[in-house]
Amino acid sequence: GTYRIAVVVGSLRKDSFNRKLATALARLAPADFAFQQVRIDDLPLYNQDDDGAPAEAVRRFKAEIAGAQGVLFVTPEYNRSIPGVLKNALDQGSRPYGQSAWAGKPAGVIGTSIGAIGTALAQQHLRNVLAYLDMPTLGQPEAFVHAKDGLFDADGNIGEASRAFLQGWVDKYVAWVKRHA
Ligand code: FNR
Repeated sequence: GTYRIAVVVGSLRKDSFNRKLATALARLAPADFAFQQVRIDDLPLYNQDDDGAPAEAVRRFKAEIAGAQGVLFVTPEYNRSIPGVLKNALDQGSRPYGQSAWAGKPAGVIGTSIGAIGTALAQQHLRNVLAYLDMPTLGQPEAFVHAKDGLFDADGNIGEASRAFLQGWVDKYVAWVKRHA
């Protein structure tokens, strides 16, 4: 069968480096893996009052997560943490209580930043949330990707300097999903 991976990108920016990274990483996966970027920009701000009647976008989002065999988070760092839009998506997917879409889904965490420490602190905050959400999360290798010239080639593939490292990361992520799915 095919392993469906829900890819959650933590940036809404049209030209997001993290979205480009997500797209390029998907191309490094084997043929039995299908990576699908899921929308989070249409999710309303989480409000517990809506638990009884979630918005259509929330129901769609949760179904996409529930139907996936794994989740890949590709996120920028905002003010040394994860962007609010990503936290909102995590919160929306986790509720109502007892009906989380996240529980048990194997996860990978990666991200790119123009800053030198490349999303390390955002990833650490995200890992804390994923632990609580009961998502087995790939621990090694870690990948803090510096968004600099040459990260992507003209076709949007991972550039030469980072390709072997990120291929190794994807290989480990794929094995992690297969082990936990
Ligand atoms: C940033 N950026 C940033 N970078 C970083 O390495 N650590 C940080 O804490 C922050 N904080 C931060 C806050 C806010 C509100 C913005 C808009 C940006 C810079 C960030 O890495 C850069 O804008 C990336 O290009 C964002 O990723 P996308 O949108 O290209 O995927």
